[in-house]
Amino acid sequence: MIEISDCNLAYVQGASQVQVYDDFSLKVEPGESVVLIGPSGCGKSTLLYLLAGLLQPTGGEIRIWGEQVVGARQKTAFILQEYGLFPWLNVEQNVCLGLRVRHIPKRKYQRAVEEMINKMGLWEVKHHFPSQLSGGQRQRVALARALTLQPDLLLMDEPLSALDALTRERLQKLLLEIWQEQKLTTVLVTHSIEEAVFLGSRILVLADGRPTQVMGEILNPLVGQSGYRQTSEFFQKTSYVRSLLEGGMVG
Ligand SMILES: Nc1ncnc2c1ncn2[C@@H]1O[C@H](COP(=O)(O)OP(=O)(O)O)[C@@H](O)[C@H]1O
Ligand SMILES: [Mg+2]
Repeated sequence: MIEISDCNLAYVQGASQVQVYDDFSLKVEPGESVVLIGPSGCGKSTLLYLLAGLLQPTGGEIRIWGEQVVGARQKTAFILQEYGLFPWLNVEQNVCLGLRVRHIPKRKYQRAVEEMINKMGLWEVKHHFPSQLSGGQRQRVALARALTLQPDLLLMDEPLSALDALTRERLQKLLLEIWQEQKLTTVLVTHSIEEAVFLGSRILVLADGRPTQVMGEILNPLVGQSGYRQTSEFFQKTSYVRSLLEGGMVG
């Protein structure tokens, strides 16, 4: 579904350049949940911006379903850490925003929006404003807004990192459910090793420094199996990811 071929990207800072990507290639199959994990500054967010069409590579190309990405794509949803909600709109209005921007008539989406608000557990707060919500609720509003657009690609940049541990686990389960139900192709950036193994069907461990390099690629076929978090396989995967991140086992 996604094909990144020999991509280059450099940020220009005054007279100097930061080469973040140098002939970087990556393929993602439909329905995969790819997790990117790696040290700060290694280029994870940049890769999402490239996939979302918000940044253009200076060399090489990115294709989705064979089509070159040249700008923001209708079917790509992008969720950021800071939720991106409008403070003057209530929950329901925030969820509808993407549909309204696309000039879809309200009668066409009203029911789907109500179902989504319900599924995300936001029914009781649907007339509340973002300032009246917890972090977990805000992130669920952002998720509801993205999903009502029926994306075929969901990009998420550390979406749960601002949440407390329990809320975070609840939302991880919700993300897993959505991915399983909708077979939604997902690229997720996280700093949490546990989260990577809980949510990724494939985990890419990125190396420190630039240009960005994949230091390890871990297939995680048991992802989504019930009770996976409590198994020894889960523990083995997290230990392996940790050892790669610590630079113990480059390979
Ligand atoms: N707009 C920018 N201008 C200059 N340098 C940038 C810009 N955005 C990011 N960088 C640099 O590019 C590198 C990769 O950044 P980023 O993709 O945000 O990393 P990550 O998300 O992995 O922390 C970092 O060294 C960062 O300082
Ligand atoms: Mg980042």
